[in-house]
Amino acid sequence: MADSMIMDVPAPASVAPSRSLKTTLARMVIPPPLLHVYRRVGLWRMVTMLFAIGWSSISVAFYLWRKRGFDAAWKFVSVKLFTPVGPGGAGVAWFFFGWFIRRYPLLYRFPRQLEMEITTRCSKRCIHCEHTYWPKESQVRKNLGYDEIVRVLEQFPTLRWASLVGEGDTFRHPDMMELVKYLRSRNIMNYMPEHMSDWTDETFKTVVEEDMDGIIVSFDAATAETYEKLKRGCGFEKVVANIKKLVEEKKKRNSPLPEITFIYIAMKDNIHEIPEFVDLVADIASRAEYGASSRIGVVRLLTFKQILDLQVDEIPKEIVELAQERARARDVFINFTGTNERELLPPPECCLAWMEPYIFMPGHISQCCSVFISNNRDFIREHAHGNVYEEDFKAIWNNKSYKTLRYLIGKKDAPIPMQCANCRVFDTLPREKKHGIIDTHTGEVMSLREFHDEHLGENMKWRYEDVDVNAFDYCEPHRYADQVARFGERACARGEVAPERCEEECEVSV
Ligand SMILES: C[S@@+](CC[C@H](N)C(=O)[O-])C[C@H]1O[C@@H](n2cnc3c(N)ncnc32)[C@H](O)[C@@H]1O
Ligand code: SF4
Ligand code: SF4
Repeated sequence: MADSMIMDVPAPASVAPSRSLKTTLARMVIPPPLLHVYRRVGLWRMVTMLFAIGWSSISVAFYLWRKRGFDAAWKFVSVKLFTPVGPGGAGVAWFFFGWFIRRYPLLYRFPRQLEMEITTRCSKRCIHCEHTYWPKESQVRKNLGYDEIVRVLEQFPTLRWASLVGEGDTFRHPDMMELVKYLRSRNIMNYMPEHMSDWTDETFKTVVEEDMDGIIVSFDAATAETYEKLKRGCGFEKVVANIKKLVEEKKKRNSPLPEITFIYIAMKDNIHEIPEFVDLVADIASRAEYGASSRIGVVRLLTFKQILDLQVDEIPKEIVELAQERARARDVFINFTGTNERELLPPPECCLAWMEPYIFMPGHISQCCSVFISNNRDFIREHAHGNVYEEDFKAIWNNKSYKTLRYLIGKKDAPIPMQCANCRVFDTLPREKKHGIIDTHTGEVMSLREFHDEHLGENMKWRYEDVDVNAFDYCEPHRYADQVARFGERACARGEVAPERCEEECEVSV
């Protein structure tokens, strides 16, 4: 999660008010999601990193082919090429073909990747995590059963990548190892964030033997003191020992998997330790031992009302430079992604994140993971597109709400779907002001003021503190209203209300 969560999602294009020729050229030739990497690490380092990632992917694909056959290798490669968000690969192909699917989103037939929250139990109390601040009644805390989880995964016959991580301790789920085996039996790529504080011998054995694709170690400090202050309940020494042990297990079995990468959430209390963290990572093992494309992703904190004081606007340049210098010296890749400054976020017309649904406890469907970690669950649940335990996912995917969202999000002059208002990955505000916010279930458009006063959760209102919401209280009928109205009827992917014929021609169930 937090990685597309926020990691490989499109990032701010540039912060410089007046653009140099170099920046303008870079913007013309470098795909938007890579611009921030270029800006932080420079062209040469970026190319080296991409080359290493490409090379490592090719060698892992051959490894899987030899050990598990063509299907495993092909699915791995196809995730690298076609999974648009998340650690699975960022879907390089979409840099080239993304425009087409943005333009005709309803032609995208069915998701091949998803995230699913299989537990909301957690024994830790990390100071930056919404789980720590949930009011008792806002979220049930439980493990889904193995059969319940598999019943959902079976609804996705063409699934290529899945993350089973939500707000909870996934690796303490009693069936987690069985689920790792299940995912491997279908060759579904499986790459997840995890703190690695509580691993048992069985965990090490299963993740290596089953060729789990990757672990993103949530590791937010370089010293035990800071780490244990932030990740309350996790043990610094234990995690370091467990990473070493995982590296040893991989060597013993001569396996490149799982690839080990790191996610470091940047907060007031830990940004000064980023350069030291580079050394720590290099001291534990080498990049070749982690996996050639292993990297540290320094990721912005996703904020909500209770943790506003942890937020940093910008990581000081000296820290970034020192971290880069050490990374070069120690052969570590480091990357800084994301921003909390709304005006630096790209416009929602660039979004493809809806291709990866997020199924959160207990079964509610959200279009993506980008609205999570906002401590705003009542809102998300209330406006979910459906619930997989009440209805088949295919029916939900084709319902009015989901179709309206997919159809409108990429259109510059359309209202913002309610579930996307206040997105932390794209800047939806200009469209919220100009075209309003649409309730995707009913097709009704409301003004920013109405949305703010009547729907937005209390924990997210701070995001609108500098906006005069009363200034935008009138919305004109939008030009896609007729089309949206048809989604309520039995309209097909092309928007035609002639189900039998369309079902045949478009092969899209209605
Ligand atoms: C919610 S945790 C679940 C997995 C596991 N319990 C763990 O700690 O890695 C997944 C990731 O979200 C990150 N995370 C939690 N709160 C966050 C926040 N406010 N902003 C950004 N990332 C956050 C965690 O640091 C972790 O890397
Ligand atoms: S970050 Fe992970 S370990 Fe920490 S409280 Fe949240 S879910 Fe639990
Ligand atoms: S909330 Fe909407 S705009 Fe934001 S990433 Fe998800 S689908 Fe895209």
